[in-house]
Amino acid sequence: MPRKHIAVNTGGGDAPGLNAVIYAVTKAAHQRGWEVSGILQGYEGLLDTDKIVRLDRDRVRGISHLGGTILGAINRGNPFDFPTPGDDGRTMDRSEEVVRNFELLGFDALIAIGGDGSMRIAEKFCRMGMPIVGVPKTIDNDLGGTVFTFGFHTAVDVATEAIGRLHSTAEAHERVFVVEVMGRYAGWIAVHAGLAGGADAILIPEIPFSIDAVCKKIMAREARGRRFSIVVVAEGAKYRGGDLVTKGPKEAGREVLLGGIGHQVGHEIQERTGKEVRVQVLGHLQRGGSPSAVDRLIALRFGTAAVRLVEEGKFSNMVALDPPNIFDVPLADVVQTMKAVPIEGDTVQTAREMGICLGD
Ligand code: F6P
Repeated sequence: MPRKHIAVNTGGGDAPGLNAVIYAVTKAAHQRGWEVSGILQGYEGLLDTDKIVRLDRDRVRGISHLGGTILGAINRGNPFDFPTPGDDGRTMDRSEEVVRNFELLGFDALIAIGGDGSMRIAEKFCRMGMPIVGVPKTIDNDLGGTVFTFGFHTAVDVATEAIGRLHSTAEAHERVFVVEVMGRYAGWIAVHAGLAGGADAILIPEIPFSIDAVCKKIMAREARGRRFSIVVVAEGAKYRGGDLVTKGPKEAGREVLLGGIGHQVGHEIQERTGKEVRVQVLGHLQRGGSPSAVDRLIALRFGTAAVRLVEEGKFSNMVALDPPNIFDVPLADVVQTMKAVPIEGDTVQTAREMGICLGD
């Protein structure tokens, strides 16, 4: 088996489990007698080649349970749309530099760990001839081709725990709590954590909601003596006929930031029902900290599977999970569509059959 030198990077925002993938990639590559280097800050290490670290045994020892990423994360590092110096909002294409440096450094493969944006970048680089294997990361679970991304289960655990804790204080004060969770344009975190945490209403981007339906649910509970309610709102949820709520205009070279729908919903509920409302935005708590055991395991399996694909020369693919199996899918397929929560699927049906209000 010829000795290989593989590179690994982590793109986009962080997610619990990144370090476990880096650990597994490094261990599996070392087992084969290969070398591994980490590219810092997404693709920046291939633009500024000082940002490359050798991943030896000591560098990765004891990292698999740690949150964050030892390689750093950056949301504005797309080499095809790279911010120009001076922060004047303009961007430029620096992809040729990345390909050139990758070749100059003598790498045989890149294992690119990331979400939808990172997989789109990886797919473009594959078309330019770079040998890349993708690993699906994101707490949002919105990446196509895989049933689960790593990071998702930890975010659901955190949100479920938070919703569970809010029950007692909501009940004690007879309040309505609105809990805004992350997830971008998909409601995976909201629907999973809302169900597991016992929410009374769950609002997701896939089902535009009517505030009347939510208030009706709260008042129906009130009439039964249940004088508190928990409403889980995905950050990408929309009023019927309404728009996404964002934190401001889109910045050059990065996705628009969502957030604020929880406060709007909370305000409306207070106005219409007269109930006292509190709003809790869980934000980056869902992304920070140690990966859950489930995510750690998925991450380790993805990391070793990615090295197997490199060994087989199966580039332009992403490792994926359809429990219990790990398999691979072409990156070109992955980047076609976002994976939304199927509204006819079993999870949404479970919520409906339990009487949870979905806002429709
Ligand atoms: O994609 C992961 C995610 O956490 C989304 O759920 C959220 O909308 C976004 O990233 C937040 O981005 P940032 O870390 O740049 O605030």
